[in-house]
Amino acid sequence: MCGIVAYIGKKEAYPIVVKGLKRLEYRGYDSAGVALLDQGTINLYKRQGKVANLEAFTEGKNINGHAGIGHTRWATHGLPNDVNAHPHTSTDGKIALIHNGIIENYGPLKEELMSRGYEFKSETDTEVLVHLIDDIQKNENVSIAEAVRLALHSVVGAYAIVVLSKENPNQLVAARKSSPLVVGIGKDGDFFLASDATPIIEYTKRVVYLEDEEIAVVDLNDGLKIFNIGNQEVTPYVQQLEMQLEALEKGGYEHFMMKEIYEQPRSITDCFRGRMNAAEGWVTLGGIKEYEQKIINAPRIIMIACGTSWHACLVGEYLIEDLARINVEVEYASEFRYRNPIINENDVILAVSQSGETADTMAALELAKSKGATILGICNVVGSSISRITDAGSYTHAGPEIGVASTKAFTAQVTVLTLMALSLAHKKGSISETKFHTLLTELEAIPEKVQRILEKNTHIESIASVYKDATNALYLGRGSSFPVALEGALKLKEISYIHAEGYPAAEMKHGPIALIDEEMPVFVIATKGTSYEKVVSNIQEVKARKGKIIAIVTEGDTQVRDLADHIIEIPETDEHLVPLLATIPLQLLSYHIAVMRNCNVDQPRNLAKSVTVE
Ligand code: F6R
Repeated sequence: MCGIVAYIGKKEAYPIVVKGLKRLEYRGYDSAGVALLDQGTINLYKRQGKVANLEAFTEGKNINGHAGIGHTRWATHGLPNDVNAHPHTSTDGKIALIHNGIIENYGPLKEELMSRGYEFKSETDTEVLVHLIDDIQKNENVSIAEAVRLALHSVVGAYAIVVLSKENPNQLVAARKSSPLVVGIGKDGDFFLASDATPIIEYTKRVVYLEDEEIAVVDLNDGLKIFNIGNQEVTPYVQQLEMQLEALEKGGYEHFMMKEIYEQPRSITDCFRGRMNAAEGWVTLGGIKEYEQKIINAPRIIMIACGTSWHACLVGEYLIEDLARINVEVEYASEFRYRNPIINENDVILAVSQSGETADTMAALELAKSKGATILGICNVVGSSISRITDAGSYTHAGPEIGVASTKAFTAQVTVLTLMALSLAHKKGSISETKFHTLLTELEAIPEKVQRILEKNTHIESIASVYKDATNALYLGRGSSFPVALEGALKLKEISYIHAEGYPAAEMKHGPIALIDEEMPVFVIATKGTSYEKVVSNIQEVKARKGKIIAIVTEGDTQVRDLADHIIEIPETDEHLVPLLATIPLQLLSYHIAVMRNCNVDQPRNLAKSVTVE
């Protein structure tokens, strides 16, 4: 939540910072602002709303400066208006600061600063930081970097900050704790700072991911220096980015979400490439290989995640319990961390997160780590906080996901969890060789089957047009199609603002059935498998109450075809792999319904992609 970006060098900072803000807009779009240092003055431009509003505001203005900081906000403290927009400045305008995170003790800090004469312009928690740094610098007569370091000693909470000081025109000071921050080392002695690498990638591939409680000073004369909060210098670990610029662009699609839905044949392939071979009969997840025996011996695996990633965990639970016969519990990270959970040293905690930055998931992992459990991660964003604090893990390799609603990250998470279940089951001997080979062969065929579903887009769009004005929707599924139903409902509600609920199909008669009337679309995953006949009965129950049935069925199905109002056929596959296919038409349905309702598909209201506040 909130994106920060900064530049210092020989080029004009404004175009670089604004372009970077657009790349980071998925992290929040309540307001945008920049501060630029031009001939000894810090100039501030801030606007409520999207970066486009800021651009409209600055159009025609002569904006110059070789050093600039920018921010795109997801509001936590204070309304999303111009005043609360970042950057925030010291009273004398000599220091400007951008911040991603939450200063939890901002109340007492603010009182203390007010009692000493500081006046606050905004309602934000961030403004305390800039006054605190200013106060320390003046009273202690120290450098701006030292003032930042001392100020951070008084701060409780999460932060990624960048500070611009007019007295140090060749320098930016940055720091992080629990919120991400990347330093890009430019080719011309210039530097970039950002919440993730996406604003940096087109200028340099050499980056340093800051660790918690590290302070980076980028100086046009002295280069990059990193200190920990105890003031010891740390040697920067420079990494080479592998991301490609094209991955950050829409590539001819109207929305990132559609591009990302269509990328799934490739992203699923990328996810299992080099990790399995059906012909040779092997599967391996290099990242966790050395922990496999520990997982097999563990009394239980506790999976923790939020949102869509939590749904992927539920699919993983079905797969790992069924195939590897290991006890799995799935927890919402936000609940787990606060309910004094019982965690033992032998437990294995597996966090699943697209961004690798979700605050609740991070905190739950830290809690588990403090209790001595083994902590593992499945993340998409390389170098993210979760991937760095875990003992081991596997990347999903889905490539950058820019649309706020998660699509390809979900199928990649499910793919990694499938590989994990198969690998554990094979090692443990809980799966027959025949079944193991069948599943590997079927998994290899999934990308091509996803492609075939994508080719039904026009049919799916026509179904969407029938239900675009619905006010409620139900999603039903059994077994591992239940999490698919949850995910379908989440996708619809978050981008089209239609109220939707996912239920295990059999639970419908314990309450939700009361909602069914001729206005209610009911999306049912009714593919061939163990529960097929039961789901058919559930469909009958809906039809008896005049509900509208949109069924996802296996190719060639005739029974449900006769009952349903609409069917979407998906290719046949092993029951364990159905979630990877059944999800695709639900993503497309939500997408088209949202587009038909004129909703902002890529940036739905009130949401942000990387939820770095709890
Ligand atoms: C929904 C969505 C969210 C995320 C959730 C967790 O489409 O994207 O529900 O899944 O915020 O985020 P990560 O996976 O980054 O931890």
